[in-house]
Amino acid sequence: MNVVVTGGAGYIGSHMVRELLRAGHRVAIVDDLSTGHDDTVPDGVKLHRLNIHQYEEVRDVLRDHGAEAIFHFASRIQVGESVAAPRIYYRDNVIATLRLLDAALDAGVSRFVFSSSAAVYGNPERTPLDEDHPTRPVNPYGDTKLAVERILSAYEAPYGFKSVSLRYFNAAGADVADGLGERHDTETHLIPLLIQATLGQRGPVTLFGTDYPTPDGTCVRDYIHVRDLATAHLLALDYLNRGGETTRFNLGTGSGNSVREVVAAVERVSGKKVPTTFGPRRAGDPAVLVASAARAKSVLGWAPERSSIDGIIQDAWKFHASR
Ligand code: UFG
Repeated sequence: MNVVVTGGAGYIGSHMVRELLRAGHRVAIVDDLSTGHDDTVPDGVKLHRLNIHQYEEVRDVLRDHGAEAIFHFASRIQVGESVAAPRIYYRDNVIATLRLLDAALDAGVSRFVFSSSAAVYGNPERTPLDEDHPTRPVNPYGDTKLAVERILSAYEAPYGFKSVSLRYFNAAGADVADGLGERHDTETHLIPLLIQATLGQRGPVTLFGTDYPTPDGTCVRDYIHVRDLATAHLLALDYLNRGGETTRFNLGTGSGNSVREVVAAVERVSGKKVPTTFGPRRAGDPAVLVASAARAKSVLGWAPERSSIDGIIQDAWKFHASR
């Protein structure tokens, strides 16, 4: 199929582009390179350096490419920044997505796979989190993702616009063979921070909180390999092609690792001591965020294959060590 990937030069988007090419799709990328990297774009794939706010230009890209589906990754992703600067998040994650949807509707595209987040749930009332858990985001980032999910639901019946929202838990890992990995200019995520500190590329990592009501006192998260995420997106497209209704799925493994367990895994994989210090809790961090991935399994037939914590860290380690 002819597909357009927004944010296709970013972390998850660049992995998606490779997965789409492997599956035989014809891909074009829309990315303004505000956080993406053009050296991730494979030969033969056209990068349109555009912001998704640019309705006319994006609509023309969709038409010229004969787009049949859009994978929408272009987004701001930092929870803390969204609290400090919410207007940027509502502008770039909600208003810009409305513009993209206008371009999609006007170019005749009716299939859409959206990068959503576990942040739509807010503080868990139960764990693991299934898709019927109440959605009460506790920060603007999660609120923008939920707003887009609601817009997508509203667009289904009147416009025949079919979409799947994929609620990622903690994306991590890398595609070592293709030289892709996590490269944020301002890194806030635990696994790359731990690896960079171990490689001497930054100072010790502060572990945020050791007094949570978890077995070892540190927060538990559900880490999912970025290539497993990409596979789920392909299956979501298959689902839409089979006539599937607009819906949403959690993407996680169903089991979690604590911050201390992740540190131990980096030490196992690297054979080195990870420089860490202990600090207070980070505002807004729930103690445990673990997905029920049952729905993606039963409806999409998705099963993560690369998401053991050691497997994720091995790939992430190789990526960072090679740079
Ligand atoms: N952590 C530290 N020290 C650090 C960074 C993180 O101890 O320097 C801890 C956090 O407190 C948390 C865990 O490591 O307990 C994971 O933190 P990340 O920042 O890597 O990821 P989050 O769980 O905060 O956020 C991720 C995504 C968000 C998404 C959220 C929803 O990055 O986009 O999951 O599940 F909203």
